[in-house]
Amino acid sequence: MISLPGWLRRSKTEPIALPAPPPYPRPNAGPRQVDLRQAVNAISDVVQNRPRPLREFDQIHMKSGDMVLQSEIVADWADGRRLAFIGDGDAISVSVAYLCKRGVLPFGPSQITVFDFDERTVNAVKRFADAERIENLDARLYNVLDAFLAEGEFDCFYTNPPWGASNKGESVNAFVERGIEACGYGGDGMIVIADDDAIDWPKQVLAYVQRFAADKGYYVSKMQRKLHEYHLDDAPDLRSCNLYVSALPGNTAQAQPSRSLLGTERLENFYGRSKEPRVHYVLERKRLNYGKAHDDEYELKPLGGDQ
Ligand SMILES: C[S@@+](CC[C@H](N)C(=O)[O-])C[C@H]1O[C@@H](n2cnc3c(N)ncnc32)[C@H](O)[C@@H]1O
Repeated sequence: MISLPGWLRRSKTEPIALPAPPPYPRPNAGPRQVDLRQAVNAISDVVQNRPRPLREFDQIHMKSGDMVLQSEIVADWADGRRLAFIGDGDAISVSVAYLCKRGVLPFGPSQITVFDFDERTVNAVKRFADAERIENLDARLYNVLDAFLAEGEFDCFYTNPPWGASNKGESVNAFVERGIEACGYGGDGMIVIADDDAIDWPKQVLAYVQRFAADKGYYVSKMQRKLHEYHLDDAPDLRSCNLYVSALPGNTAQAQPSRSLLGTERLENFYGRSKEPRVHYVLERKRLNYGKAHDDEYELKPLGGDQ
């Protein structure tokens, strides 16, 4: 069982101070007291705004309770720093920014930018930021197969990529590589990938990803195991971990120019067995209000119309 932070175990009327903060700069941060009710309601707003997942691209959404916990973890870890999300169908980016904006979390990143190839996600982030006047939240349409164009603009990256069950973690590594480039081969990354003791492939992927990160000059600085659950019908018990990587001192000196991955062997089984990437972008057909039922989902039968 996951041990919950104190603020999730207490009621709103008895907030408590959490342990001392990590050694990042935390200007003007007050005591860490969080109102659970406000936090859950804020996440509910975010979930309403989230486009429905497309399974063929491994979009599988994290459950709401885990989003609350994860947002607090991410806001704390990225406090005062510029954070790049390499893909974010879960909308952890929006959750973090919104919890900060509403004052539920008294700490958080200075800037959040989402890079995703799904225009529905990009537009949902932008619309939410606009509606809630969240000035430090932005999103850009971007496919990880293309060379990255914002190299070195960030201090840390977050990714919850396709989990690479059928390609020895190569799809994870593609997203991690873009995160590393976003940080100019410096800073820190949080990689959210499968973690399950009962099956083999998550262990193999964890090993391959750690090796890939080490080759790029990063070491594993922390791991939080089996934290998150997903809306995943065929594997409801499969969880993911937070794998933290940090750049070795002086690593920015080995920064390489970003390159396209198109035409390389790294794309085999990218979204699962025999599912190579064939799509540059997922485009939004029409603006949808995700919180409301679509009119093609139901039909109205008038009163007295049964005879
Ligand atoms: C692959 S899903 C992984 C599951 C995760 N729980 C989620 O649904 O966000 C993560 C994100 O990566 C995005 N994505 C998938 N393929 C991509 C690509 N080639 N380039 C950029 N983003 C991509 C998806 O749109 C999604 O938002």
